Amino acid sequence: MGAHYDEIARLDAAYVLPTYARKPVLFVRGEGMRLYDDDGREYLDFVSGIGAVNLGHAHPAVADAVAVQMRTLVHVSNLYQVEHRAALAERLSDLAGGGWKAFFCNSGTEAAEGAIKLARRWGKARRGEECVEIVSAERSFHGRTMAALSATGQASKQEAFAPLLPGFTHVPLNDIEALSAAITERTCAIMLEPVQGEGGVYPCDEDYLAAVRRLCDERDVLLVLDEVQTGFFRTGPAFAWQGYGVRPDVMMLAKGLANGLPAGAVLASGTAAEALGPGDHGSTFGGGPVIAAAALATIDALVAERLGENALATGAVLRTALEEIATRTGAVTEVRGRGLMLAVQLAEPRAQAVAAACLERGVVVNAIGDSIVRFLPPLVCSSTETAILTDALSAVLGAV
Ligand SMILES: Cc1ncc(COP(=O)(O)O)c(C=O)c1O
Repeated sequence: MGAHYDEIARLDAAYVLPTYARKPVLFVRGEGMRLYDDDGREYLDFVSGIGAVNLGHAHPAVADAVAVQMRTLVHVSNLYQVEHRAALAERLSDLAGGGWKAFFCNSGTEAAEGAIKLARRWGKARRGEECVEIVSAERSFHGRTMAALSATGQASKQEAFAPLLPGFTHVPLNDIEALSAAITERTCAIMLEPVQGEGGVYPCDEDYLAAVRRLCDERDVLLVLDEVQTGFFRTGPAFAWQGYGVRPDVMMLAKGLANGLPAGAVLASGTAAEALGPGDHGSTFGGGPVIAAAALATIDALVAERLGENALATGAVLRTALEEIATRTGAVTEVRGRGLMLAVQLAEPRAQAVAAACLERGVVVNAIGDSIVRFLPPLVCSSTETAILTDALSAVLGAV
């Protein structure tokens, strides 16, 4: 911990609302997989700003695109055409197999708000005023603003802010009977993360997601997939649903979209793309020139560097090593996830201590609750780096 840390931590405690229990480190620089603190100490980053910096830190192509745009035009609002915005929408549509239209916003929670509003408009047009209800999964996470929080399936994050929005029900993940029973004439959409992230890295079963798609078609309900954490090659394909072979009607994007800059999007296809008209939704900043230029540069680099293939290959290596730790130590009861979105379930409730001990060893990992440690490295991660992680984890699991 460097000298500057103390001063920043003091200011933070004095002047920033304490909505986060921050870790005792001040990162001042990053490059690829690496972060550096105010003492110049190097860390390997297995969090990537909670799954946002998929290309790695300080990627030169994104930095250049942003710098050029900053000197050209920063902001005019959504009242006008903007260079790069429409091109970005086309690029996203192509990445997702074509036939999509985008609404741009600034974060994952805003993508959830946009998707919820779109689904309600679609439902009302389809089956009348009552058709506004959304079924999502227990343990899901869709964001912190009120509609996104209402869609979220975690009482611990919701209770203090009741009353929530009406019209949301939650069912256990991977239970198709429960989902089928929850759908009524008033249901306009099913909203799911292909792999639940903040809930603890729980993937949808392959046959479950395929059955959800069939159910949505049979019952005339939109399938909304929250790809905020799984998107942009995190699990291998550009979007996780492509790995499942299950195309949604609507998807939510953020995090990796602009490699760490605040960006979000709702993508809609088919009749869902006709649900919103002028005046129905908006954002002052969404899809602005700088973010759109950054996002285009991000996507180009993710594709050119074949980072989806790397996510699958390195993810497989990391998974095998984590499974080996599970078998050898007994300290891990389960390894979950897809691609480079992985987590271990610990036998004992010591995830926070494990993450803290890894940080002391220069390896940045993220604890979810008491018993889950999550790994979301930049997708440039190599097997040399995952070996450093698993060595640290082995030592720490033996020690704490
Ligand atoms: C699946 C998912 N949806 C939505 C969100 C909310 O995104 P944001 O924090 O950008 O509002 C997150 C954030 O972790 C997420 O993982």
